[in-house]
Amino acid sequence: MPFWPVEWKFFLRCTVDNTSQPFPTIGILGGGQLGRMSALAAIRMGIHVRTLSPKPSGPVEGLGESLSGDWTDPDVMRNFVTGCDVITVESEWAPAEVAEEVAGDIPVYPRAETLRIIRHKGVQRKRLTEAGLPGTQYRLCASIEEAEDACAAVGFPAVFKRFQGSYDGYGNRMVHSTDDIPGAWQALADPDGLLVEKWVPFIRELAVMVSRRPSGEYVVYPVVHIEQRNHRCHSVVVPAPSSPDIQNQAQQLAVQAALNLDIVGMLGVELFETRDGAILVNELAPRPHNSGHFSIESCKTSQFENHVRSILDWPLGDPSLRVPAAAMVNILGQRTGLVSSQSLRTSFEVTDAAIHIYGKTETRPDRKMGHVTVTADHPEEALIRAEKAASRILL
Ligand SMILES: Nc1ncnc2c1ncn2[C@@H]1O[C@H](COP(=O)(O)OP(=O)(O)OP(=O)(O)O)[C@@H](O)[C@H]1O
Ligand SMILES: [Mg+2]
Repeated sequence: MPFWPVEWKFFLRCTVDNTSQPFPTIGILGGGQLGRMSALAAIRMGIHVRTLSPKPSGPVEGLGESLSGDWTDPDVMRNFVTGCDVITVESEWAPAEVAEEVAGDIPVYPRAETLRIIRHKGVQRKRLTEAGLPGTQYRLCASIEEAEDACAAVGFPAVFKRFQGSYDGYGNRMVHSTDDIPGAWQALADPDGLLVEKWVPFIRELAVMVSRRPSGEYVVYPVVHIEQRNHRCHSVVVPAPSSPDIQNQAQQLAVQAALNLDIVGMLGVELFETRDGAILVNELAPRPHNSGHFSIESCKTSQFENHVRSILDWPLGDPSLRVPAAAMVNILGQRTGLVSSQSLRTSFEVTDAAIHIYGKTETRPDRKMGHVTVTADHPEEALIRAEKAASRILL
């Protein structure tokens, strides 16, 4: 028997094999660190990545195909979504509704309707209350008089929150007395007003990440302890020092929130633990979250990988810890100017420190420029080393 017919038959088998599938393309709206880390996870699995952001963006440069343009323009969006298998967002502010308008059969996860609810802190709070999720006392205030009444009801200090567009605490203000009300109102009120919340004297802040597929499967990450400084995430430690009962409650509330909002993708649930053992939901983030960055080195499947797998409706990975403990510390900008790698060298001397730099070309005070994760046998030890490595990096 000559050799060629075997080859020919093999060739035929390959060409008629209709089970072969090309690797999918995911479209990410956004070009910041969350888009970057999601893209890196996707590319590792052979998935094609396309990003769209309003301006060329350092963090996603060189990762797949990065486009920039006016993403509120349906034509720009149509060009972007064409050829994608699924669209996702890296931030709740990305215009998912424009993507949905032009996407036809291409799914957009999270859905624009989910983002509409989460984007507005007042609408989100009402939804959480209706879903039976515990939270602090609050009022949606349409006028300064209503805000004064709300302060009388919740007491001082109160927390005033801008309804839309705030992040990293930029839209929050503590109000200690009636004298503070006009200034806070002027600074934060949208045309439809603002949110007034009772200040919670929590003993610690916790967060739980949930990843959920359109077909319903979900996984829940371990509970983390977050330390906020100036209303901004400073560090994340896992396991959280809370009791197993509190951790259970926290995970159950996070799942309840994900199911209530029919989340697809990642959901970050920020929580307060009070002295009397209660858990209150602070707010939700419908995407990978700063409190889940530790999972890259510390969990069997990172939040970024599970985000990608969930939006593709692929089986989810195990979210459990692969190490006894971990800590993540954010690297914030400390000056204004171009970034420099000069200070990185000494941070590498810290044992088991994984340094993540986001690729932003310009630094400014308090801008999130990167983070450090340290894995260790004990949470305290992980935090000490993560702080040490992060403090050596001056971007
Ligand atoms: N009602 C409250 N009582 C006590 N502290 C609060 C309250 N609301 C917010 N905070 C503090 O301010 C931080 C930021 O608040 P919030 O999460 O509402 O703002 P954000 O701008 O969405 O922040 P981020 O983007 O960091 O999540 C909280 O993590 C918490 O430390
Ligand atoms: Mg928050």
